[in-house]
Amino acid sequence: MDSIVVTGGAELRGEIPIAGAKNACLTLMPATLLSDEPLTLTNAPRLSDIKTMTALLQSLGCEVTSMQDGRVLALSSHDINNHTADYDIVRKMRASILVLGPMLARDGHAIVSLPGGCAIGARPVDLHLRALEALGAELDLRDGYVHAKAPGGLKGGTVTFPLVSVGATENVLMAATLAKGTTVIENAAREPEIVDLADCLRRMGAQIDGDGTSTITVQGVDRLGGATHPVVTDRIELGTYMLAPAICGGEVECIGGRMDLVSAFCERLDAAGVNVEETDRGLKVSRRNGRVSAVDVETQPFPGFPTDLQAQMMALLCTADGTSTLHETIFENRFMHAPELIRMGARIDVQGGSATVTGVERLKGAPVMATDLRASVSLILAGLAAEGDTVVNRVYHLDRGYEHVEDKLGAVGAKIERVPER
Ligand code: EPZ
Repeated sequence: MDSIVVTGGAELRGEIPIAGAKNACLTLMPATLLSDEPLTLTNAPRLSDIKTMTALLQSLGCEVTSMQDGRVLALSSHDINNHTADYDIVRKMRASILVLGPMLARDGHAIVSLPGGCAIGARPVDLHLRALEALGAELDLRDGYVHAKAPGGLKGGTVTFPLVSVGATENVLMAATLAKGTTVIENAAREPEIVDLADCLRRMGAQIDGDGTSTITVQGVDRLGGATHPVVTDRIELGTYMLAPAICGGEVECIGGRMDLVSAFCERLDAAGVNVEETDRGLKVSRRNGRVSAVDVETQPFPGFPTDLQAQMMALLCTADGTSTLHETIFENRFMHAPELIRMGARIDVQGGSATVTGVERLKGAPVMATDLRASVSLILAGLAAEGDTVVNRVYHLDRGYEHVEDKLGAVGAKIERVPER
C-alpha cells in the first residue's frame, strides 16, 4: 500500500483546481438505471470510488465509458441483464445501495446486498428501505440481501424521514420520478448534491420541486429520457484545500470554488481568522494574521457545518491559539483521526461525540495511519504545518475521494510525495 510523505513548514501559494463532487457523481451514475437512453456526465472526478460504481453498474449490464481522461462518463442502461448488486462490490462502497431505488422503479425488481457498516459508524440503510416501502415496494431481507419487488410499479406516497439522510433522500427521489402519482418527501436532505441530482433528473424529464429545501415534491412520469449533465463542484474537496493555506500560511485560490457551497464552513473560518475572498474564478484563502484562533464547531446536515469537513477542521484547530470544541452530531465514531493527530503532538480529549482541542504552537511530523477518507486527508493537512516528516500510510482511503492530492498540493509549494509500497 502506498504512503504519502509530507515535509512541513512551506507556505503555499498558487491555484488548486477543484474537481466535480464525488458524492454527487455517486448518485448521478445510478440515475442511468432510470432510462434506456444515454446519460452523459461531464466534470466527473477521477477517483477510485467512481471506478467502483462503474464496475457495479457494468455488473448489472450498463455500459459505462470513461472519456477525456475520466472527466466524462457516458452511461447507458439500454441492456440491463442482471438485477443483483453483489456483496463483493457493495461491501467496498456503501453508495452502492443507490442502485436499489432506480432499478426497482424502472424494472419492478432488484436484489441488493446490504452494505454493512464502516469505520465511522454502523450506517444502517433502514431509512432507505422504509422510504421505498412508502412507495409500495415489497422488501424481503434475507442472506444479507434486500430482495425488492414492486409488482405493478411504484406508487407515489408521502415519505417522512425521522432524521435527515442524504443517501435515503437520493434513493427515494430517484425512485419517485417513475412512480405513479405524486410523492412528497418530508425532512429531506438539502445538500447541494441533492439539488444536483434533481437538476440532472429534470434534464431527463422528471418533474421535481422543492429540492434544496426540507420538502421535495415529485410528479411521477411514465419514462425518462437521456441527458448530459455537469457534476457540481466538490464542496468537501474545496473545503479541504481551503484549509491548506489556513494551516501553514500563504495564499491559495481554489478554482471553481463557490461560497454558497461552503457558507457555514466559511463562517467558522472567518471566526478563526482566515480570510476568504470570492474571485471570478473561485475562492482565495489566506490567514489574516499568522496563527488562527480557536473556534467551536458543531456538524449538522446542510446548510450547517459539514461532517465531512470535521476531521480537516480539527487538524487546523490543533494549531490554533486557544481551546476549541468539536461536536460530531451525524456519525457515532468519527474521531479516529484524533489518536493519529495526538501522535503528532496535538492535545485532544475525546468524550463521546465531542472533542476538545487545545492548540499547540507546532505539531511534530510522525508516521500515522489513515482510517477513513476524511481522516486521512486531515493527517496530510496536519503534516503541512508540522515540523519534519509525516508519513501517512494506507492512502488507498485518500484515493477514494481526492484525485492526485500530492500533485494538487505540490503545485502550490507543499513538500509532498507518494511513496509506492516497497
Ligand atoms: C452521505 O452518506 C455521504 N456519502 C457521506 O460522505 C456524508 O458524510 C453523509 O452523507 C452525511 O453528509 C455519499 O454521499 C456517498 P446519511 P450517507 O444517510 O448518505 C444515519 C464521505 O466522506 N442513517 O446522510 O450514508 C447514518 O448512520 C462520506 O464522502 C440511518 O440511521 O449519510 C448517519 O448517522 C462519508 N439509517 C446519519 O443517518 C439510514 O437508512 C446520516 O447519514 C441512513 C442513514
